This record gives sequence, C-alpha cells and structure tokens, in this order.
Amino acid sequence: MRYFFFLLIFLLGCTFICTLAKEDLPGKNLFLTSKGKYGSCNFCHKNGGSAGRWDFEYEEISKDEGRIIPSLKGIGKKKSIEQIERSITYMKKMFGFKLTEEEITQIAEYVATL
Ligand code: HEC
Repeated sequence: MRYFFFLLIFLLGCTFICTLAKEDLPGKNLFLTSKGKYGSCNFCHKNGGSAGRWDFEYEEISKDEGRIIPSLKGIGKKKSIEQIERSITYMKKMFGFKLTEEEITQIAEYVATL
C-alpha cells in the first residue's frame, strides 16, 4: 500500500513537470496568430523558417521574385533581443501589424529561441 502511495506521488510529480515544460512562451502564440495585412508572422517565416521570397510588387510569396524572407532559425545566437525587437518593429510598420511594445518584446523572446 505504501509503495502505491509513493508511485502515485511520483506520477503526479512527473505530470506536473511535463505540463510546466510544455507551456509555450506567450510570443509563440503571437507569432502564429497576430494578424498583419498578409497574415501572421508564420505566413512568411513558415515554422520560423522561410516561405521563400516576398514579392513587394504583386504582394505575394514568390519563388524567384522579390526580397528573400530570412529564416529566423538560430537568430538568437547572432542577434541581441534589442536587434530582433527593432526588426519586428520594422515588420510591424511594413506589413501592418498591431502590436504593443510588450508584445514585440514577447515575440522577440520567442524568436530568439528558434
Ligand atoms: C509579408 C511577409 C512577412 C511577414 C508577414 C513577416 N515578415 Fe519578417 N521578414 C520578411 C522579409 C521579406 C524580411 C527581410 C527584410 C529585409 O531584407 O529588409 C523579414 C525580416 C525579418 C526579421 C529580421 C531577420 C534577420 O535575419 O535579421 C525578423 C526578426 C522578422 N522578419 C520577424 C518577423 C516577425 C516576428 C513577424 C510577425 C510580427 C514577421 N517577421 C512578419 C517578411 C515577412
């Protein structure tokens, strides 16, 4: 009986830790759901990578025309949170996102983990 009790505590503890570990950064949600003129960040930076190029003329994703959409993977190792925040502020203006300063910081913190 006593062993059963210990086992129960052990399992509950595991479940608790797993739930905590899986909790996503608030910025991830914003990355996936915040809406700009063309959709979320994920539309162009697909899964944090790149969906191709952004054609400014036709306002669409293209294979060979327009500005390369950079992948955001590993950006946290190359750039500081402040630099990433500045890029996101630029995204906000260019692609019409409605984001507060706090949300920009949250997204930057998430993007830095990609
Ligand atoms: C319509 C397509 C599009 C959308 C939507 C978009 N981006 Fe971008 N992003 C780009 C392009 C294109 C560039 C490259 C800009 C340049 O070269 O000046 C870029 C650059 C960046 C950079 C700089 C990368 C680097 O290597 O320095 C970051 C960070 C970034 N985007 C994050 C975001 C976030 C966060 C969002 C959502 C709020 C977002 N982007 C939404 C197309 C997009």
